[in-house]
Order: sequence, then C-alpha cells, then structure tokens
Amino acid sequence: MTMSEMMEGRGAKLLARTPRHVAIIMDGNGRWAAKRMLPRFEGHRRGVEALRRTVRAAGDLGIAYLTLYSFSSENWSRPKPEVDDLMGLLKRFVRNDLAELHAGNVRVRIIGEREGLDAEVAGLLAEAEDLTRANTGLTLVVAFNYGSRQEIAAAARRLAQAVAEGRLQAAEITPERLSASLDTADIPDPDLVIRTSGEQRLSNFLLWQAAYAEFVFLPILWPDFDRSVLEAALAEYAGRERRFGGLEAGRTRQGTHG
Ligand code: IPE
Ligand code: IPE
Ligand code: MG
Repeated sequence: MTMSEMMEGRGAKLLARTPRHVAIIMDGNGRWAAKRMLPRFEGHRRGVEALRRTVRAAGDLGIAYLTLYSFSSENWSRPKPEVDDLMGLLKRFVRNDLAELHAGNVRVRIIGEREGLDAEVAGLLAEAEDLTRANTGLTLVVAFNYGSRQEIAAAARRLAQAVAEGRLQAAEITPERLSASLDTADIPDPDLVIRTSGEQRLSNFLLWQAAYAEFVFLPILWPDFDRSVLEAALAEYAGRERRFGGLEAGRTRQGTHG
C-alpha cells in the first residue's frame, strides 16, 4: 500500500474520533425530582451540579466546544415560580462559578435572545462573556433563552434588511452566509448531540447547525449525568461512520461505477 492509499484510509472505515463540538439537551430534572418526591426545584439544583461536572469532564476529555441547552424560548410557558427558580439558578451559577471557569481558561459564549431578559440576568451573561473572551481552553456555549427557529428568523431578517439597503444581493444568500448570520457564527457545527431523559426530539435546538450531527439519546435523567456517561456517549460516537452525503470511507475516489 502506498502512503497516499494509507492516508486515504482504504479498506478501513474512517471512524469518527473525539468530537470537536458536543451539544447537550439537559433534560429530565423534573422527573428526577418527582421520582424522589422532591420539588422540581431540587431537580434543577442537582442539574446545575451535573452541569458543573460535565464542563470539567469535557475539558479533560479534549472536547473543544461544549454547548449546553439551559433554557429554551418555549420554557417561558412554564409556571412563573419555576421560571423564577431557573433564572435564580442561572444567576447563582454565574456568581459562584465564573471565577473558577475563568481560572480554568474556559471561554464562555452565550447564544439565544438577549432582548427582553431581566437586566440582572443579561448583565451576568455579558459579564461571563466579557471576562473570558480571551481564554483559549474549552469554549462553553450556553444556550439561554434560545430557540433555533427564532435564531434562523432573526438571521433572515438581518439578511433581508441588508438586501433592502442595497448592501447585499439576494443571490449572495448562501448556506455559508446564513450560517455566518446565526448566533453561532464563530462556532463549528456540533459533531455530537446528546439528549438525556429518554426523549428523542430536538425541542428547537440547533436545527440548522445539527444538519450532519450524530445523535445519542440516553435514558438517564440529567441530574445523574457524569463523566462516565459522557465517556460512554463519546465511545458510541467514536464507532459511528459519518458520511456527509458521500460514500463509505475508502470508496469516494474509485470503484463507485461497479
Ligand atoms: C430540563 O429538565 C431543564 C429545563 C428544561 C430547564 P426539565 O425541567 O425539562 O425536566 P422534565 O423534562 O420535566 O423531567
Ligand atoms: C428542552 O427541554 C429545553 C432544555 C433542555 C433547556 P424541554 O423539557 O423544554 O423540552 P420538551 O418540552 O420536553 O420538548
Ligand atoms: Mg423536559
């Protein structure tokens, strides 16, 4: 075998290795609490502990980008006391953990709609981004007040505005340009999307960006998530073969016409 054949991976499946970007739908806090006859708040509180563990583990495992779905555009439809609890936990998390994240060289990015957020929450999110902007370790992307359809609609509005003002031609609106108009403009697409709690749906999360992501749905509830569960999901991912619409690795250049 020549070197170039070896590099092409002929004969062997080109397998996915460590994902560069892992995105997680942290679901099941309420059910975790209900199983223990505890208030939902306790599930959310324990969910924050799982989040903390997960950020550490992701950094240790060499993941470059970790996106966590922490509050969806649709979560406002929950009872006000629960929404208030979730806002309180976010504020507490930033206040308690930001210094440690910064010391750990974590770069925090927030995606989602900022407008209309409580001033204190918006201020803390901005502070987390500003403080950690120059860090070079794990990029922690927090999807907060995030909805993928809202994000895509906002991008379409901005592009339409640019066309209306003559700064852009309609024909120049390509997938790349639309990607660059999303909140995630400077973030690579997720390689792996994990959802806990047994639900198998996206719930308005990264619809555009996850076009070629691998999905792992886990039956465990989010407060039970830890490093070993993450490692198991990564192992599952490592065994997947990604094709991106092409052919099995090694068959892309020859032997395709029979
Ligand atoms: C995930 O847990 C946390 C958020 C959506 C904020 P849930 O609160 O959705 O828990 P379940 O799905 O009711 O168990
Ligand atoms: C998705 O979970 C949102 C977050 C994890 C923040 P939900 O619990 O809100 O989703 P549905 O309502 O079950 O689809
Ligand atoms: Mg849920």
